[in-house]
Amino acid sequence: MTDTPHLWLRAECKPFEKRTALAPTICKELLDQGFKITVEKSPERIFDDSEYAALGLPLVEAGSWTSAPADAYIVALKELPDATTPLTHRHIMFGHCFKGQDGSAELLRRFQAGHGTLLDLEFLQDDRGTRVAAFGYYAGYAGAAMGLEAWAYRQLHGAAGTKALAHPKVDPFPNEQALIAHVKQLLAEAEQKTGMAPSLFVMGALGRCGRGACDFATAVGLPETAITRWDINETKKGGPFPEICDRAVFVNCIYLTQKIAPFLTFAELEAAGPNRSLSILVDVSCDPNNPNNPIPVYKEYSFFDQPVNYLPVNAAGCADLGVIAIDHLPTLLPREASESYGRQLLPTLIDLRSFGPVWKRAEQKFRDVTQAVLKA
Ligand SMILES: NC(=O)c1ccc[n+]([C@@H]2O[C@H](COP(=O)([O-])OP(=O)(O)OC[C@H]3O[C@@H](n4cnc5c(N)ncnc54)[C@H](O)[C@@H]3O)[C@@H](O)[C@H]2O)c1
Repeated sequence: MTDTPHLWLRAECKPFEKRTALAPTICKELLDQGFKITVEKSPERIFDDSEYAALGLPLVEAGSWTSAPADAYIVALKELPDATTPLTHRHIMFGHCFKGQDGSAELLRRFQAGHGTLLDLEFLQDDRGTRVAAFGYYAGYAGAAMGLEAWAYRQLHGAAGTKALAHPKVDPFPNEQALIAHVKQLLAEAEQKTGMAPSLFVMGALGRCGRGACDFATAVGLPETAITRWDINETKKGGPFPEICDRAVFVNCIYLTQKIAPFLTFAELEAAGPNRSLSILVDVSCDPNNPNNPIPVYKEYSFFDQPVNYLPVNAAGCADLGVIAIDHLPTLLPREASESYGRQLLPTLIDLRSFGPVWKRAEQKFRDVTQAVLKA
């Protein structure tokens, strides 16, 4: 442990990933706390290298973390580049390897071989087990934006909303004002063409993602009467819920912990008939391959370069259902998502100076999982 931890901001290598764990404003606060920070250059990152240089931070080449000082914490959000080399440092990132995901054992073996440590961002939890930082708010915000955008696009280009469309690629937005302006414009054009305005059904509305989804709907001018907010109380009676078919866009934001009755199946879609309002489903929770998925109407993820998959609803005159199931939605707003995440993480990062209980638990989790996985 040291009073002046050294953070080495690794350049992300996942294609299209513009977010970062350490926005310049967060670096500034850490510098004020006496931290040492080295930044790998990155043309992809939403923050320009010059914003870090302006803070007096040393810029180094992308990928040079492999030769960082042994005591540096290597900080990033997403996976390491594919390799088999042993990992010697302490890495702070989303490892996606504690729940048996593909490639878990290989990654843990690399840490074991190099005596390195993974301090997984997903497992930085307070003493009540709550995550200290999460991207949820901007996932919901982006999910509602994508859903309303797809709804408007369908009104404008989808032969009165009944024809499957190839929805164009969506690129990240420089900031949330630009995203709001873009969606507002499309909604206005759709209303001018068809006289219709959308409505939104948010499931899990009291959670991080759910609040983000509702806030986006309000930001683009949906009146409160056009937003249905459901959470655990409203679903107590058990699904399915035909009410979902009465709203134009359904955004599912629940945190799934157990098997529950489905929220929506093809039976409700078919029963709603040709006058169904529901046009776009956005599954922010995005559990298509989970056997307990409460929306068992689709199996495929979608991606920003082809965001909407259209599913036929096999009943006379029924429109297809557009499905958005993107598992990295906050990437749509990399600036705000990075700032918000970094702000939540900051007190815990500062706590690296004493390697407090949050870090000790994360380290223990890594040791336990490594032992269990590599013994199996
Ligand atoms: N697609 C993405 O890019 C992305 C990004 C971040 C998070 N997520 C996922 O979004 C999900 C939600 O995350 P969060 O941070 O908002 O969680 P959260 O715990 O803050 O909120 C979840 C909400 O769901 C509600 N809920 C749970 N079960 C319910 C039920 N049966 N009926 C109605 N409401 C129910 C809870 O009461 C809570 O209000 C998680 O699965 C998370 O992994 C997806």
